[in-house]
Amino acid sequence: MPNRWDGFASIRQNQIESGKDLTFSKVFLPYYNDLVKELCPESLLEVGCGTGHLSVNICSNISTAVAIEPSEGMYAVAEQVVKESCVQLFCLRVEEYRCPHPFDLIISHMVLQLVDNLDLFIESVANFMEKESQFVFAIPHPCFYNNYKLFFDSSEYKYMCEIKKTISFSITNDPNKIISGVPYCHRPLSQYFSVLKKFGFYVVDFKEIFPDQEIQSLYGVDWKFPRYCVFHAQRKKGNPVLKKANNSSF
Ligand SMILES: C[S@@+](CC[C@H](N)C(=O)[O-])C[C@H]1O[C@@H](n2cnc3c(N)ncnc32)[C@H](O)[C@@H]1O
Repeated sequence: MPNRWDGFASIRQNQIESGKDLTFSKVFLPYYNDLVKELCPESLLEVGCGTGHLSVNICSNISTAVAIEPSEGMYAVAEQVVKESCVQLFCLRVEEYRCPHPFDLIISHMVLQLVDNLDLFIESVANFMEKESQFVFAIPHPCFYNNYKLFFDSSEYKYMCEIKKTISFSITNDPNKIISGVPYCHRPLSQYFSVLKKFGFYVVDFKEIFPDQEIQSLYGVDWKFPRYCVFHAQRKKGNPVLKKANNSSF
């Protein structure tokens, strides 16, 4: 699946570096920069870094920054993008990556909505976390995104059902560059919460992304709803069910 991104790396590089990708430069770059300022992580792992621009832009005060990206096309661009930075880059899927130490902060930007096996992905991320680590991931908002992009027609779309499709899309400021043949999976929000819970995570914050009017005006149309959402999750401190069971024996 990740090889489906190979041919779009240079388009994405151009969109990000030229500032055409408003959502990257005006919405999410400030979001992740604020996150790093707030959490002051000593170590960062970015899963599915694409062209590497996000890691490079947020890593300057972080001692250990690792980015992984399995698409060879994306990886080739990312190699150039991270060259002068402290980011260590690996051409791997998260399921294949092994690291002897945990990370304070793990981010995954616009990746979970396209992974085939959400359980395996989140289980793999759990391996890199200790108690205080945070896993922060952004996805298209499952409640609203199909109204906006119309990937699924009304006969196939049922909000509560997981549904996968190969899609094509473009971005507002670069409408003629079509990114096509890439996977997309709609899952209801509750599925993300329950898979996180299954692997011992609890959600410490959940943000719906709705930029202020000044940023919205750059898109040429007002946003009618939050297009994206961001989960902030930590591993459970203890198993409350077990604690209860232990207490009841006294
Ligand atoms: C929509 S792109 C987002 C890239 C980048 N994060 C960005 O926002 O520009 C999704 C990326 O996730 C990567 N990916 C897909 N499955 C993955 C996995 N199992 N582990 C790590 N990365 C994965 C793809 O290769 C692709 O580059």
